[in-house]
Amino acid sequence: MTSRTPGPGSVALITGGTGGFGRALAATLRERDVTAVLADLDGERNRQVAADLGCPFVVLDVTDRAANAAVVAQVEAEHGRLDAAYLNAGISAAKSDDALDVDEFMRVVQIDLFGVVYGVEAARPAIKRAGGGAIVVTASLAGLSPMATDPGYSVAKGGAIAFVRSMAPRLAAEGTTISAVCPGFADTAIIDRIRHEFTAAGFPVLTAQEVADALVMAWAEGEPGAAYVVQPGVGTVNYRFKGVPAARTAAGEPAAVPEALRPPEMR
Ligand SMILES: NC(=O)c1ccc[n+]([C@@H]2O[C@H](COP(=O)([O-])OP(=O)(O)OC[C@H]3O[C@@H](n4cnc5c(N)ncnc54)[C@H](O)[C@@H]3O)[C@@H](O)[C@H]2O)c1
Repeated sequence: MTSRTPGPGSVALITGGTGGFGRALAATLRERDVTAVLADLDGERNRQVAADLGCPFVVLDVTDRAANAAVVAQVEAEHGRLDAAYLNAGISAAKSDDALDVDEFMRVVQIDLFGVVYGVEAARPAIKRAGGGAIVVTASLAGLSPMATDPGYSVAKGGAIAFVRSMAPRLAAEGTTISAVCPGFADTAIIDRIRHEFTAAGFPVLTAQEVADALVMAWAEGEPGAAYVVQPGVGTVNYRFKGVPAARTAAGEPAAVPEALRPPEMR
């Protein structure tokens, strides 16, 4: 059975699965009779969240490359297939000041960027074996519009979007769409430290459900290399990259980029 859309019989893995977006996504996929396997850091609270949702739980630290592969193998062994991988685990810096804390920067990049790279490496062959499917990366608006308060997060999310766009053609060739969802600020634990600032300023934040709906849409209709922006009061928008100034020949004519080297927006 090929299962490219979220529906009965399909199996999804969600990293960071017991967090705010992960829980809303898992519940939304369950409504569509998708088996949603929640992968997250070990802990009684995380196991309980999965149990309450009626979802299987697997322990995963996304920065452990071998563990990503082991979790995918476990999902295939226990559920028979993998149709979609939601690479959603993420953190932001624990503090924001004007110092550049390189240790903190590296910690965020390890989880938010390399966790995605390892997740793609692990999920790719399994999704191919299932006949194709989807990889959806939870990036952030910060990957398109860097946050002055969190350089590590901005680099990791911008890198994740670039990685998605770079990987899209080779994955599409084997029937897997990879896309990124880029939410603005949303009401989950990750904004606990700064929620009061939004409240004080009367600034709207997204609900986790609005983001979960975008994540499901990205699987169902995902366009290879797409970056879907989600903003309060706006909804989900397929962001259009502007591209860069084209090279010109010695005669001043636009030079055609060799086909294999063309970025997604030029294909
Ligand atoms: N909430 C927002 O404002 C917002 C906006 C844009 C993007 N995002 C992104 O959405 C994703 C989900 O975040 P959320 O808002 O649900 O926050 P959250 O804090 O509720 O959930 C994050 C989850 O990731 C897990 N996690 C952290 N480190 C991990 C690791 N090393 N291995 C495995 N799991 C790990 C946490 O345990 C947690 O369950 C993150 O990638 C985040 O950067 C959030």
